[in-house]
Amino acid sequence: MRKNIVAGNWKMNTTVPEGIELAKAVVARSAEVPAEVKLIVATPFTHLYPVAEVVKGTVVGLSAENCADHAKGAYTGEVSADMLVSAGCEYTILGHSERRQYYGETDEKLVEKTKLALGAGLKVILCVGENLDEREAGKHFDVCEAQIKNVLYNFTAEDMKSIIVAYEPVWAIGTGKTATSEQAEEIHAFIRKVVADKFGAQVADDLTILYGGSCKPSNAKELFAQPDIDGGLIGGASLKADDFIAIALAF
Ligand code: 13P
Repeated sequence: MRKNIVAGNWKMNTTVPEGIELAKAVVARSAEVPAEVKLIVATPFTHLYPVAEVVKGTVVGLSAENCADHAKGAYTGEVSADMLVSAGCEYTILGHSERRQYYGETDEKLVEKTKLALGAGLKVILCVGENLDEREAGKHFDVCEAQIKNVLYNFTAEDMKSIIVAYEPVWAIGTGKTATSEQAEEIHAFIRKVVADKFGAQVADDLTILYGGSCKPSNAKELFAQPDIDGGLIGGASLKADDFIAIALAF
């Protein structure tokens, strides 16, 4: 059965003490959220260990925002999947458009990262989505299809149990411009079909697909009401615990 998930991607925001306070505020209000909705916070690497202490024994899960494409060794500045697990992480985001755009993250690298993350026991939140030019050229289906195939088709149906997909149209990220619920739903349903083509209907039906891109308390209800939208990956609005919880309450 697929899960409803509301995950906050803090990106490169908050100092460590601010992050601890934010995590505490999310935990403090988490009891209001129905048990069927999983809450996750994805924090910068520096915050993971102290935030793990805050969320330990609560319903709030902990995610990283990235991990290395090598297991260990001489890769200065990188953080491995095993390190994330040792810091208390259960999840990692991979392939966020900001990493694809600013840090040269390719689908090939994402295959390696996903293998290492799954091998370490992490669940992966894989991001896909088209940019504005691609949307305007009518290529949004092709772009998402290629991103899904290039990465996920290298894995097994068993691996898919540990994978969550986030559809994040780049033109909607941090712009205040949300995809309409129809625009989001048609891509989510399409992603599920691309997954079904390789892994079968059951795996596709069990896959959690999150929407990300200017999701906020005022539009979450309509988005989450769509049959193929199973929750959200929230940027800006996850930096205020009240907004983050209000989004989770939209289910
Ligand atoms: P915003 O919610 O700030 O648009 O960011 C979405 C996002 O990129 C989440 O990963």
